[in-house]
Amino acid sequence: MKIGVCGTGRMGAAIAQRLMAVGHEVAVWNRNQAKTRPLVDAGATAFPAPASLVESCEIIVVMLLNDAASEAVYRGPDGILKAKLAGKLVIDMSTVRPDTMQSIGASLAQQGAAFVESPVGGSTSPAKEGKLFALVGGDKADVARAMPVLEHMCRRIEHVGPLGAGAAVKLAINLPLLVYWQALGESLTICKPLNLPADRLIDIMSDTAGTPTAMKGRGAVIAKVLGGAPLGETAFGLSAARKDLATAVQFAKTLHAELPVAASALACFEEAEAAGLGDADATAISTRWPQRQPKS
Ligand SMILES: NC(=O)c1ccc[n+]([C@@H]2O[C@H](COP(=O)([O-])OP(=O)(O)OC[C@H]3O[C@@H](n4cnc5c(N)ncnc54)[C@H](OP(=O)(O)O)[C@@H]3O)[C@@H](O)[C@H]2O)c1
Repeated sequence: MKIGVCGTGRMGAAIAQRLMAVGHEVAVWNRNQAKTRPLVDAGATAFPAPASLVESCEIIVVMLLNDAASEAVYRGPDGILKAKLAGKLVIDMSTVRPDTMQSIGASLAQQGAAFVESPVGGSTSPAKEGKLFALVGGDKADVARAMPVLEHMCRRIEHVGPLGAGAAVKLAINLPLLVYWQALGESLTICKPLNLPADRLIDIMSDTAGTPTAMKGRGAVIAKVLGGAPLGETAFGLSAARKDLATAVQFAKTLHAELPVAASALACFEEAEAAGLGDADATAISTRWPQRQPKS
C-alpha cells in the first residue's frame, strides 16, 4: 500500500523507515526538504507540498511538532485541506491539543476524508521497531480502517474515545514522565555532596519503585552526562517536552482543573529552554538541575 508521511522530523522519519521496512511504498513531505533526503535514498518518493503528497496516497500519516505546525500544514497554501480528499484516510500522530484534532477532523470530514488521531508513547527507537503505544481517538469505522497500518507501527493500540480523547490521554501519560525528569534533577541535587559515581547513583535510583520504565532507556545516557560527557543525541527534544507540559496545563484550564506540580515543572522546562537547551534531549532537564546556580 502507498502511504504518505507528512512531517519527517525525528519521529516522522523513524515511522517512514518502519513503514518501508515492512514493505509499504512510502511518499514523504517535510517543510525542510533536506530532512527527506535519507528517506529518498532509502526508496521513498518526496513531494513538494502536503496537498500533492495527499493526492498521491490512499493513507497519510501526519507527524508534526505542535498546534502551530498542524495549522500551517493542514490549512496553509498547498496544505492537506487543499487536496482532493474524498476517500482518503489521515492518521495524525502528533501530540497537540484535543480541540486541534477535533477541528481538523471536522474539516477533513466535510471533504469526504476519514480522520483518526493517534498520538504515541515511545520514542524514535520503538518507532523504528514498530513498538509504539498508540492512544487512538476517532469513529469506530475509521479506527478499524486505520488498524492495519497502526499495527505495523505499534506494539499496543488503545482506542480511548472520539477525536480529542487520544490527545488528552497522550498529554496525561507525558505529564508524570516530564515531571519525573525534573524531579530526578532535584533528587540528584540533594545527593551531590556525597560525590557518588554517577552510574552507581543512577543504578540505585533505577532499582526503586519511584522510577519510570523510561529510565531503562535513558538512565545510562543521564549517568554519562552527569559524569561529565557532553549531551548525547536527542530522541525527544526538550522544547517538545515543554510544549507537552504547556499544552497539558492549558488543556486543564479548559476543564477548570489545576495542575500545580505540572505548572512548576513547566517553569523549569521554560527556564532550561531559555538557557539554550531547547534542542537537547528532554532528559537534559535532569542533568542541568544539579549544575544550576540557585536563584538568590
Ligand atoms: N521524539 C519523541 O521521542 C516523541 C515521542 C512521542 C511523541 N512525540 C511527538 O511527536 C511529534 C513530533 O516530534 P519529533 O520528535 O519528531 O519532533 P521534530 O524532530 O522536532 O520534528 C517536528 C516536525 O514538525 C515539523 N514542523 C514544525 N513546525 C512546523 C511548521 N510551522 N510548519 C510545518 N512543519 C513544521 C518539522 O518540520 P521541519 O523539519 O521543517 O522543522 C518536523 O517535520 C511532536 O508532537 C512530539 O511531541 C515525540
